[in-house]
Amino acid sequence: MRPYKTPMTIDEKVVKTLPELGVTNANGVEALFAEVRAAMEKERQELVSRGAASEAERDKLCKALRDRWLARKNGLVSFIDENWLKKAAKELKPAVGRNFNVLRQVAPSLEVAELVKTVPVGLAVRPSDKLEPADSVAVEMPAALDLTLPGYRQPLGSIHPITRMQREIEEIFLGLGFWIEGGPEIESVYYNFDALNIPETHPSRDDVDTLYVDAQTLLRTHTSPVQIRAMEKYGAPLYIIIPGKCYRHDNPDSTHSPMFHQIEGLAIDTDITFADLKGTLDFFAKKLFGEKIRTRFQPSFFPFTEPSGEMAVSCMVCDGQGCRTCKESGWIEVMGCGMVHPEVLRHGGVDPERYSGWAFGLGVERFAMRKYDIDDIQLFFQSDVRFLEQF
Ligand code: PHE
Repeated sequence: MRPYKTPMTIDEKVVKTLPELGVTNANGVEALFAEVRAAMEKERQELVSRGAASEAERDKLCKALRDRWLARKNGLVSFIDENWLKKAAKELKPAVGRNFNVLRQVAPSLEVAELVKTVPVGLAVRPSDKLEPADSVAVEMPAALDLTLPGYRQPLGSIHPITRMQREIEEIFLGLGFWIEGGPEIESVYYNFDALNIPETHPSRDDVDTLYVDAQTLLRTHTSPVQIRAMEKYGAPLYIIIPGKCYRHDNPDSTHSPMFHQIEGLAIDTDITFADLKGTLDFFAKKLFGEKIRTRFQPSFFPFTEPSGEMAVSCMVCDGQGCRTCKESGWIEVMGCGMVHPEVLRHGGVDPERYSGWAFGLGVERFAMRKYDIDDIQLFFQSDVRFLEQF
């Protein structure tokens, strides 16, 4: 992304075309015209509240404002006609045309002559004068406020791609009877590591990887601690997913961020087997990425699951044939999973003789990057409207 420059003035914008202004969709058109109408109104208000020293000066100022906007030659509106409307791409024409018509309808508000008070030189109204509480009780409505003018359309925002991805995943599991659970982002060493069977010597405990608040408190490095909290709170059986922010001592680059989102899944019941895990996650992958997707489970290791696995999905770019996206392997690893370790059940107060369970943890950013074909994780956190408005 290009770094921002100082914002362009309206005068600079009207001589550019929409693509040159980076306006490529209807939302952008709305926002741009809202800006134009606001600028027009501001100039009108300024003239009205400023007043003029004489009638002659008043007429001159009013004509200048009208000409600036409406002059057939070199008026701002005719530039907009020439550069935005006439040159608009076919798909944007309706939106530009509609907004252009609104602009022409509000243009008569530029006829401000009768609103501009003439005040003898030296007595011209300063804005601060208007704010002084009047001695008399009668408060005059400022002449500039015309309640019959059409309102300004506020550009609508859109759902952040991470939120959107999270909701999509939540929907699938809610449909399967799971519910959504949350937990603290500032977590104890006990819940984040000890209760999950992660040994004292595990490298992830190091402050090279984990952001500590103090010796016993940290920013959770994954959503797994909520497994324990939920078992303590609800006992078994339990079917939950846990979306939330996680933190790791990573430098930001195109694939890393010190803050990111995970969704944890946890199913505990009598007679839960690895087949349940595979069946559920295969169903989930097909719902999310499409029926054609195949899944593959490979052995892996996590201290809190046994056996542990890594689920991969067939590459959606090449359909498993091998391409750049999947590094020629045909597969893309998407999450860690496994059968909940009996020790972990015990820490949650669930009897491992009676119950068994499976769990998974996935990175929401990575899913969103796959699904929306985004190559830089930093885009999610930069709040650049040009990126966000595409969702
Ligand atoms: N907590 C693991 C991680 O952050 C993911 C995981 C969750 C793996 C649940 C297995 C079971 O990498």
